[in-house]
Amino acid sequence: MIQPIVKFPAPVLAQETPRVEKFDEELEKLVDNMFESMYAAEGVGLAAPQIGRSLRLAVIDVTVGKNPEARLVLANPEITHFEGEQREEEGCLSLPGFRGHVLRPSFVTVRAQNAKGEEWEMRGEGLLARAFCHEIDHLYGVLFINHLSMLKRDLIRRRVRKLQKAGEW
Ligand code: NI
Repeated sequence: MIQPIVKFPAPVLAQETPRVEKFDEELEKLVDNMFESMYAAEGVGLAAPQIGRSLRLAVIDVTVGKNPEARLVLANPEITHFEGEQREEEGCLSLPGFRGHVLRPSFVTVRAQNAKGEEWEMRGEGLLARAFCHEIDHLYGVLFINHLSMLKRDLIRRRVRKLQKAGEW
């Protein structure tokens, strides 16, 4: 089921999430809904708080549905290693229309559990490394705009407020 994406500045996006403890049918359903909602919004990653669920859970597919093997479920993810630097433009489904350059590592190794609770570990580079960092940030209440200069962040905040007032957000 496609869920509406929660937009900034919803409080749920600023909260640290509790760990996933129960790997049951309900969790699998939530994961399916997250993939469906992410594909509908044409995103490469989605964290549970973005559909209003405060839970340490995210999904990523950098092929946007083209390769089923690229579907990653990140329950209780942790970055175990990172190296290098990349500075690319980044956006977020919770901040539609806004982008900014964010410094991230070029290589990121993540350890997480899948929807069945099985542990996996993977090294990602480029866009995948960036997606790992972006989605894990979400699980700690951090958005990409938190990595921008205060000036740029305030500009985005003001534009969002204007859009809200105009009923366009
Ligand atoms: Ni995001």
